[in-house]
Amino acid sequence: MLRARKWLGLCLTISLNMGLINFVGFGLLGIARGVGETSTASASEPFELSIPLGLKPLPVVKDNPLTEAKIALGKQLYFDPRLSDDNSVSCASCHDPHKGWSNGDATAVGVRGQRGGRSAPTVINSVYQHFQFWDGRAGSLEEQALGPIANPIEMNLPIDQAIARLAAIEGYAEQFQQVFDRPVNAEDLGKALAAFERTVLSGNAPYDRFKAGDKNALSEQAQVGMKLFFGKANCSSCHAGANFTDNGFHNLGVNIHHEQPDSGRVAISQLGGDHGAFKTPTLREIARTAPYMHDGSLATLKDVVEYYSRGATPNDHLDEEIFPLNLSDDQQAALVAFLEEGLSSDEYPLVEPPKLP
Ligand code: HEC
Ligand code: HEC
Repeated sequence: MLRARKWLGLCLTISLNMGLINFVGFGLLGIARGVGETSTASASEPFELSIPLGLKPLPVVKDNPLTEAKIALGKQLYFDPRLSDDNSVSCASCHDPHKGWSNGDATAVGVRGQRGGRSAPTVINSVYQHFQFWDGRAGSLEEQALGPIANPIEMNLPIDQAIARLAAIEGYAEQFQQVFDRPVNAEDLGKALAAFERTVLSGNAPYDRFKAGDKNALSEQAQVGMKLFFGKANCSSCHAGANFTDNGFHNLGVNIHHEQPDSGRVAISQLGGDHGAFKTPTLREIARTAPYMHDGSLATLKDVVEYYSRGATPNDHLDEEIFPLNLSDDQQAALVAFLEEGLSSDEYPLVEPPKLP
């Protein structure tokens, strides 16, 4: 069902240069001509990303403008296991483009097989999120990116060591100098990774095309599911807007009766009401990122819909928008059809590992 197509030649940058008009078509992320062969790419050439149907323009980040060379550098770093202490784990190990930019495991496994307590969220459309991580402890992608490198159970490489390693690799030293006009440093490492992540978008799904007027874009069953989603099933009270998230935190009782439940957002906000609350995740490309929830405890979308239908797990802090929906089997199947069919784009952002310096 899920057709993946590389985003080739989608982007057209029109630059006006000394009275001459240059039309420059770039394959996204340099896929077309192979990153690492970008010697001709100007370090400051602005990169105009084409935004898929249904998504909003990218939030503007003043001090980290997108350039082709910066995205190409960030892409190499994203796939480079040398950013982990034993050279075994890269960002892509846990956020694999072939696995919905997540990893198919309930909880993430870092260096030497260490397992954390939370599942790896998708990187897709993360640029639109007001908060990063399940508990929202980081704001921007720049701020987020250095976390996993130093995290002892993820990549376990202190940032100063990461910088020293990169600086010793000629291809990286040169690219950092070219892109940022200074030697390798932590701030620019975060910026390059974030620039690459900003380009990982999914839109133009059947749902978007249906909304834009193509009445054949969704099957009848998925249309029934869509009405439930925005109506009786109340999903859109939290999974709202173009990216299907309100950027808020809610308690659904997931994991709450565990011996040592994850306290979630309250650890960051210190607000009692945030006990057991987690960030509302995007639902785009959701069919690719099983298992579900912050602890990966629900195996399938059918399980998720069943969980909501019965009213999730009641507890003292259960969100007021969560209550038994008592959906019939047909209604549950329709909701699943909407999620699977409606939110899976056939312009899925599949990116292959680049050549590393
Ligand atoms: C060992 C697995 C692992 C590795 C390696 C890893 N991550 Fe993650 N990532 C996770 C987990 C687990 C979370 C959620 C953690 C949490 O919420 O506390 C996460 C969260 C994120 C988020 C936030 C997404 C959201 O919706 O909140 C982004 C963005 C991200 N990682 C990018 C990266 C980048 C960039 C790298 C490489 C520098 C990386 N990750 C390396 C497992 C990993
Ligand atoms: C009160 C807000 C709220 C409502 C209403 C709500 N959700 Fe969620 N949804 C969340 C939050 C928060 C999470 C993550 C919870 C966690 O992991 O503890 C989530 C997780 C999910 C996930 C798993 C995503 C992933 O990446 O693991 C799916 C699928 C989902 N919701 C679909 C739905 C559907 C379908 C409905 C309607 C039947 C719905 N949601 C109603 C807030 C909500």
